Amino acid sequence: MCGIIGCVGRGDDTLETLVEGLANLEYRGYDSAGVALVGADGLSVCKTEGELSALRDRLEGRDPAGTVGIGHTRWSTHGPPTDANAHPHTDCAGEVAVVHNGIIENYQPLREELEEQGHEFESDTDTEVVPHLIEAALAGGARPEPAFREAIGQLEGSYAIAAVIAGSREIFAARNDSPLVAGLGQDSEGVPPQDGTGGPVFLASDVPAFREHTPHVLYLEDGDFATLDGGLTVTDTDGVAVDRGVETVEWDAEQTGKSGYDHFMRKEIHEQPWALRQCLSGRVDELRGAADIDLELGATLGVQFVAAGTSYHASLYGAELFRRAGVPAQAFLASEYATSTPPIGDDLVIGVTQSGETADTLSALREADRRGAETLAVTNTVSSTADRECDHTLLIRSGPEIGVAATKTFAGQLAALNLLSLATVESQHDRRTLLPALRDLPGDVQAILNDSNAEGIADAYEDASAYFFIGRGLQYPVALEGALKLKEISYKHAEGFAAGELKHGPLALVEDSTPVFAVVLGSGERAQKTVGNIKEVEARDAPVVAVTDGRNDAHLYADHVLEVPETHPRAGALLANVQLQLVAYHVADNLGRPIDKPRHLAKSVTVE
Ligand code: M6R
Repeated sequence: MCGIIGCVGRGDDTLETLVEGLANLEYRGYDSAGVALVGADGLSVCKTEGELSALRDRLEGRDPAGTVGIGHTRWSTHGPPTDANAHPHTDCAGEVAVVHNGIIENYQPLREELEEQGHEFESDTDTEVVPHLIEAALAGGARPEPAFREAIGQLEGSYAIAAVIAGSREIFAARNDSPLVAGLGQDSEGVPPQDGTGGPVFLASDVPAFREHTPHVLYLEDGDFATLDGGLTVTDTDGVAVDRGVETVEWDAEQTGKSGYDHFMRKEIHEQPWALRQCLSGRVDELRGAADIDLELGATLGVQFVAAGTSYHASLYGAELFRRAGVPAQAFLASEYATSTPPIGDDLVIGVTQSGETADTLSALREADRRGAETLAVTNTVSSTADRECDHTLLIRSGPEIGVAATKTFAGQLAALNLLSLATVESQHDRRTLLPALRDLPGDVQAILNDSNAEGIADAYEDASAYFFIGRGLQYPVALEGALKLKEISYKHAEGFAAGELKHGPLALVEDSTPVFAVVLGSGERAQKTVGNIKEVEARDAPVVAVTDGRNDAHLYADHVLEVPETHPRAGALLANVQLQLVAYHVADNLGRPIDKPRHLAKSVTVE
């Protein structure tokens, strides 16, 4: 996930403030970095592929001077991590520098228009249109601030943007759907003036970037523009001043990378609305009833998924989507696939892997490639081995995930697999019913995060020695994932089953102290059957937690209910999973487990 820092300083330490700010954002993950400073000699930009140490090396001896500057750590989405694609991006004359987080959806037509006007581009990024748009507005006679506004007014998509312009001692910023926060320097008493005029003024995508300089922050909202000079002015899209209020951050230094959350896992669970917006951004067109994922796949007769762990659960879900659309599809555990490869024929082989580096999955994809299959990586990581080796890539755009337990990347995988099936095999009718549900998904996840009673349920059952999870159809992978999440971070025994399988054996293990989490969505025949399975465990005195949208009778037989908003069943499965993530998190937290780094596990498993 990209990071932004900006500073209007008082002395000659702005460059160091920017580089340190970027270092404080390193936890977000990045693959290139850069800074731009405005000084008496104009604008200087220094950027490079790789880590901050590479940027420091490149800065050595150059020492660009200036008290106004911006910096960026980039996590690739458009184009590979190269010097040219690193931010800041500049205009033709090298007088405007811009850093950006988010995705500019209409960058292609804007770029074509600018190229027709004679602007020359140096990168593959969507961001680079912004400095050129500012340059065009300045050439039309606009002053810097109106020129910035004019450029931003032409953008569609999500953005947190900061720009500096040679000859101007200001940073211009705008936000839409991507966070931006200003920091107000404090006086010797630690008090910040409301307009920031008492000390240096900062701008960042996340407070840790400048937390060591000030705890006084002002969060920008969507549609806000900010100008940082000696002070701070915030205005709305019409240029009318708005008062966002200054807050004081209380976190200690250790917590800053987690934005105030106790664990990365919890932060990442709460980032899911953002991650889903990123995944869907620019890829769904409700008006046309279409999904556009920019992939040219060959004609395939069937689909084989290969994956491990959580990504395998996403693959089970994906295979079900394709089968429902009439396409033969199967999900395979990658570690089994390579040793007993099924006939591939003309199947498309899809490797689902958030890291893109899981050895089992890579080995399965290589085996498929050796046998002549067309391969597709569904991954979170640009330039990962899976991205580089597969014929095609579909990025899930969840931002880096630090916690070992996969959370937001599972949500991203499910959303991306919906886009894939929508774009390739779904009927027009299915597209029309699913697209509104996908549009509402980020808001529905947010509603669960705001109101979930998962913590109370975790408190009630934290002492159990075993937990079961059941679900049918699309809810079966959610049951498996709920159990995996709980076992890996709480070290409690947890198993997921297809709801109908319980009575074929596992029911013998059910006791009055075995909580059974039953995922039951909708009102159809399948839901009724799972309600029947709930009755079977209830008859054995087991406590039941129904994860349900209330459209069936599950709540009548359950001891507790975790509510899921009513929506399309495919979206419902993702929402039910959020409730189970929260249960797992709170059980592990109550037990004092090292949630972000569970014993014996690694984030990226690079051995077979
Ligand atoms: O990076 P990948 O998605 O390929 O990783 C596969 C599994 O190792 C991974 O999903 C693992 O099961 C999760 N960390 C569990 O939360």
